[in-house]
Amino acid sequence: MENKTNIELNQLENKPVSDKYLVFGSPNFNDEEYTEIVEVLKSNWIGTGPRAHRFEEMFCAYKGADYAVSVNSCTAGLFLSLLATGLEMGDEVLVCSMTFCATANVVEHIKAKPVLVDCELNTMNVSIDDLKRKITPKTKGIILVHFAGRPISNIREIVEIAKEKNIAVIEDCAHAIETELDGQKAGTFGDIASFSFYVTKNITTGEGGMIITNNKEYADKVKVLALHGMSKDAWKRFSDDGYNHYEVVYPGYKYNMTDLQAALGIKQLEKIDPFYQKREKIWNFYNDALKDLPLITPYKVEANSIHAYHLYTILLELEKLNITRDQFITLMHKENIGTGVHYRAIHLQKYYRETYNYRPEDFPNATRISERTVSLPLSSGMSDSDMKNVVTAIKKIVAQHGK
Ligand SMILES: Cc1ncc(COP(=O)(O)O)c(C=O)c1O
Repeated sequence: MENKTNIELNQLENKPVSDKYLVFGSPNFNDEEYTEIVEVLKSNWIGTGPRAHRFEEMFCAYKGADYAVSVNSCTAGLFLSLLATGLEMGDEVLVCSMTFCATANVVEHIKAKPVLVDCELNTMNVSIDDLKRKITPKTKGIILVHFAGRPISNIREIVEIAKEKNIAVIEDCAHAIETELDGQKAGTFGDIASFSFYVTKNITTGEGGMIITNNKEYADKVKVLALHGMSKDAWKRFSDDGYNHYEVVYPGYKYNMTDLQAALGIKQLEKIDPFYQKREKIWNFYNDALKDLPLITPYKVEANSIHAYHLYTILLELEKLNITRDQFITLMHKENIGTGVHYRAIHLQKYYRETYNYRPEDFPNATRISERTVSLPLSSGMSDSDMKNVVTAIKKIVAQHGK
């Protein structure tokens, strides 16, 4: 349940949420999105069509990538990326344990083996030392997550190692739309990358994802796989040029993005800079307001990098508090503040710990973070009083529960 926000939990439990409740990861829409959605409905073309195509072009330009293929989730994008790069049953794929389950699940979906790697304690990104230790002759893929939107600072070194050993590099950019390292954008370091437009993400289409790559063969492959393995997509079939038959060239999947989703994506991408500036303001406000409390604020943004400010994750100093992390979250909830846990690491999850006999101590950094981390609200739609309320609630709780 750890990826569910408190409002989602309330919905599951059928509890009304008060107007005063600050929802974790709430989207930021206004009349531009409302008008555009009505336009799509009036156009009578709500499936995959011109808007999905336009969103792909805009995303390509934003990222400076050669190809972009829109899909219905980042998870679908990761799965298709694994197929496109030729990974298959029995291969080993390195995955950092400090990530959302989807990063590892997709490896299971192709019947390959996710080999978990510990993270760094400060950046929460993959530990290159542990990654090197985990490479075997069976390693055929690495999925790299830019955690919380922070670029993996040694990603070029990892890509070099992978090239030498003929290992495919897939970037999981679910948190990393705006992320850059030395002027290079996240998603352009490896062979192929997948982005998320889930509701809590920096820009959202409700559900949605985008694959980018500079490799034409991979782009063509994911495009076909995302729509039943058909050689032509629906809106091209019914174009003014006349009817075109499709060929099924592979038993593909149903992962295409609709124009309804893309309409949101287009409007949201147009506002990516002001959204970013707002989150940066909240980030700096938290950094300053929380610095003397029994918690660790996010590691500094490293030089020559752009952090996407997707998640503001604090680590509670449990030695100085008489409550657990989960009790802290419940108390925040009672103060009308929704928070998140990103994440309880993969090796601690039932399926992975039982299938691969992982123990907490096998990944000491990811385990430590799993027990202490709390993500604070960081939506671009937040008001000044929202961010002050978050800090007031934290100060109240630590004052009552400090040792
Ligand atoms: C690191 C990471 N990878 C993958 C995903 C999956 O994204 P989606 O919900 O778009 O499938 C998420 C979603 O939260 C994520 O945080």
